[in-house]
Amino acid sequence: MTARIIDGKIIAADLRTQVAREVERVKRDHGLTPGLAVVLVGNDPASEVYVRSKHTQTQAAGMASFEHKLPADVAQDDLLALVAKLNKDPAVHGILVQLPLPKGLETEVVINAIDPAKDVDGLHPHNAGRLAGGQPALAPCTPLGCIILSKTVHGSLEGLNAIVIGRSNLVGRPLVQLLLNENATVTIAHSRSRDLAALTARADLVYAAVGRPEMVKRDWIKPGATVIDVGINRIPTAEGKTRLVGDVAYAEVAEVAGAITPVPGGVGQMTVACLLVNTLRAACAIAGLPKPAV
Ligand code: GUN
Repeated sequence: MTARIIDGKIIAADLRTQVAREVERVKRDHGLTPGLAVVLVGNDPASEVYVRSKHTQTQAAGMASFEHKLPADVAQDDLLALVAKLNKDPAVHGILVQLPLPKGLETEVVINAIDPAKDVDGLHPHNAGRLAGGQPALAPCTPLGCIILSKTVHGSLEGLNAIVIGRSNLVGRPLVQLLLNENATVTIAHSRSRDLAALTARADLVYAAVGRPEMVKRDWIKPGATVIDVGINRIPTAEGKTRLVGDVAYAEVAEVAGAITPVPGGVGQMTVACLLVNTLRAACAIAGLPKPAV
């Protein structure tokens, strides 16, 4: 058996098209241009690539994009002052502070300073709490992307056995909540879980979000399971270069899985597309408009 490849590129492009259509509509009918502000502190090369891609895709969807670059040694109070200014700015409906922040800055303090209505990363405790309570909330973009990809395979996730490997605030924990909202049966596993292979082997849906290159092996996977790989790990090759791999040993797992996301070209593509969705939704909510169609 060879797994069907879940093409994040195509699915994300389709989502961006839907967002662009809705942005056009709210602009035309309500004079509302959704705006996203992205704050990048320091010059981590991977973060710079992400931020550039967010800027390009935000503009391509017809939204306003505001980029703020601060030096790595910025005082925390200055960063908080920028967040406060963006909170008040009526042209800004979404605020994203790119993570990880350089050493010396307290992530929690900065995230908690963002207006929850503009928290398009879904990281503020207000949104995390609402999500955990089953209330409408802005949810983190990567887990939202994971759910959309899974639904392209299954339609409904109701009653399926899911395992989430990893318990980060950005992915694992919110993904568990979103899966519960979809009526899946969820196991959350992590670095201290015993017999991860046996736990994973029960799952119809496997979400790998641990940050360990190619950790999930072929014999962990129930034949026909759907495997969603959130990992992005850069590893050295024999030729002295580097290549990107996920948390799943792709080639061997693809021989038993029913469907699998590639790395790159899977989940990564969905994150920015879902950020656009969240920005559109935040803009409509702030403006008191009905929920958009996406
Ligand atoms: N760094 C890597 N992924 C993300 C994300 O989804 N949001 C933020 N703020 N930083 C990130």
